[in-house]
Amino acid sequence: MSHYKIALLDGDGIGPEIMTEAVKVLNLIAERNNITFDLIHAPFGASAYFECGHPFPEQTQKICDEADAILKGPIGLNHEESKKIPVDMQPERGALLPLRRRYNTYANFRPVFLPKSLAHFSPLKAEIIGDGIDIMIIRELVGGLYFGEKETGVTAEGVRYVKEVLEYDEIQIRRIAKVAFETAMKRKKVLHNIHKSNVLKSSVLWNTVMEEVGQDYPEVRIEHILVDAAATYLCLNPGRFDVMVMENMFGDILSDQGGGILGSLGLMPSACVGDNKAYYEPSHGSAPDIAGKFIANPYSMIGSVAMMLEMSFGMDQEAKNVWHAMQSVFADGYSTADLSKPGSGVIMINTPAFGDRVVEALRQMPVPA
Ligand code: IPM
Ligand code: MN
Repeated sequence: MSHYKIALLDGDGIGPEIMTEAVKVLNLIAERNNITFDLIHAPFGASAYFECGHPFPEQTQKICDEADAILKGPIGLNHEESKKIPVDMQPERGALLPLRRRYNTYANFRPVFLPKSLAHFSPLKAEIIGDGIDIMIIRELVGGLYFGEKETGVTAEGVRYVKEVLEYDEIQIRRIAKVAFETAMKRKKVLHNIHKSNVLKSSVLWNTVMEEVGQDYPEVRIEHILVDAAATYLCLNPGRFDVMVMENMFGDILSDQGGGILGSLGLMPSACVGDNKAYYEPSHGSAPDIAGKFIANPYSMIGSVAMMLEMSFGMDQEAKNVWHAMQSVFADGYSTADLSKPGSGVIMINTPAFGDRVVEALRQMPVPA
């Protein structure tokens, strides 16, 4: 019988609410597949800072080190609350980036997925959405501006300045390129490489290495597209894209735009994968404005569970079942107040009720052999 340890980092804001729903799904998956998930909650983020004095406390690091996979909720506080925490202890700098660095989770998968049946969530016109949106954004996650050297100072003339370094070496580019080509091979064999080589030298090297790695994947057609143009096409013709690969900062921005064309970042789960460890998290923030109201949809968190089942535990069919279960709840007319307006024809339910319906839908599906 398989036995997996999963670290659960509830995080801040709506994190604990949506984590509770993800746990319901994990428990059902364990039960119906006759496997054991050891679910170990550990403090992380601003809440951890206030409880333990550090946003990524040592005890949490140990639990994560020993875990087979990590499921992480969103972190962060609103602007005013953030000021109560010293800059380097704020959860983004003090917890999230160290988590990515610790496990070298260089490949961030952000599916931008909306079946035709859910097209009403999108702000795009039906004729632009066509048969639905189905893009895999692959973002390099441990390099570039996020992790480059930083310097803040004052010149001899008394002018304040700041400097941040955008650095990549060919090893970093090659490994993410391989992930992108492998993903393209499993999908439509088209890879859009996003860059800014008309300005940035980093993109010139990036593109060169992409081309080199592409030699090993002759079946994949690679298309190079400037990041600003890609932003436009994501709105005008998302169907043009299948797999997109890009450096860290571009990926941060374009993946949020991905959430925008779906209608909400609440529909964006993600997987952050390294060679030895992976963690899974919603792509959105902790939404402090709606925390505690139980109106947040748990789709991104449960979707992250689906990605974990597939990518960490090889449970491909159960992963698909989880996706279908969530979509069937929407298809049955249910939604939550963060995604839908009252009077828009949906049956409004709260976070736990949505999670319960996903669990019920999943229970009805045959258990994979
Ligand atoms: C994301 C988030 C993070 C990032 C923040 C919270 C540091 O926006 O995962 O996209 O910029 O990577
Ligand atoms: Mn982001």
